[in-house]
Amino acid sequence: MSGNDFSSAWALRYGSAEGAPSGEADAVTLHLLAHRTVRSFLDAPLPQGALERAIAAAQSASSSSNLQPWSVIAVQDRERKARLSKLAGDQAHIRTAPLLLVWIVDLARLARIAERAGAPSGALAYLDSFGVGLVDAALAAQNAVVSFEAEGLGIVYIGALRNEAEEVAKELGLPPRAAVAFGLTVGVPDPAVTTHVKPRLPQAQILHHERYDATGEEEAVARYDTLFAAFQRQQGLPERSWTSTILQRIASAQSLNGRERLRDVLIRAGFGLE
Ligand SMILES: Cc1cc2nc3c(=O)[nH]c(=O)nc-3n(C[C@H](O)[C@H](O)[C@H](O)COP(=O)(O)O)c2cc1C
Repeated sequence: MSGNDFSSAWALRYGSAEGAPSGEADAVTLHLLAHRTVRSFLDAPLPQGALERAIAAAQSASSSSNLQPWSVIAVQDRERKARLSKLAGDQAHIRTAPLLLVWIVDLARLARIAERAGAPSGALAYLDSFGVGLVDAALAAQNAVVSFEAEGLGIVYIGALRNEAEEVAKELGLPPRAAVAFGLTVGVPDPAVTTHVKPRLPQAQILHHERYDATGEEEAVARYDTLFAAFQRQQGLPERSWTSTILQRIASAQSLNGRERLRDVLIRAGFGLE
């Protein structure tokens, strides 16, 4: 691969080749820079073994103290996917993709192991243990995403599976101390629908050296707003800035679509969150 391939990938990611480092990039990094969410799928099964390869990749992610405090539920039954879609804002891609993976913060397995050993498991009652489960589930899921995408498959993460987390838990038979983190739909992308790389904030706003530094943020966000609006136009989506989009998303509890109740839901599910 040439440095030129990398500067093109950088330009798609940031809207300009400006700031791209010189030198060669490896194939994995180039693959990562080309990520885009795919929401239109063919009515076709996944290649044989794709799920198991991706989960092996997921289990290869680092794990805090190697606790492995997560599980993943593969849902392929059309009716179950339809019910879960309803619980997650009626998102069509949950129904049309052949596979929905539901990533679970799973402290239940650790609790069972402690119980069988007749040993205490008081640390599980703390917020940090939930955080460790959530972080590990996310790291694992992203490894699976990289594997699926390397096979030419498309994915959508589904945060909306937390909207009605208790109903989702019932549908999936989750025990106490197991909670849905997020979903991931996986399928064969519909070639008739072109997807594009969605540009990100300039790297200088994200990468801080030595100490936190928000210098230049206002101008950088204004430039990004213009770039984002152009992306929306290219996609045939409502032409709006990134700022207006995120302001709507963070405005109030209502924008959380039920997730504002998550703390209570988790406590009822047996997570201490101390
Ligand atoms: C944890 C998480 C939850 C998400 N939830 C949803 C969702 O419920 N529905 C959806 O269509 N996209 C969802 N997304 C996809 C984001 O909207 C998408 O990643 C973002 O707009 C950036 O676009 P890109 O992935 O194409 O770069 C989610 C992404 C993440 C990481």
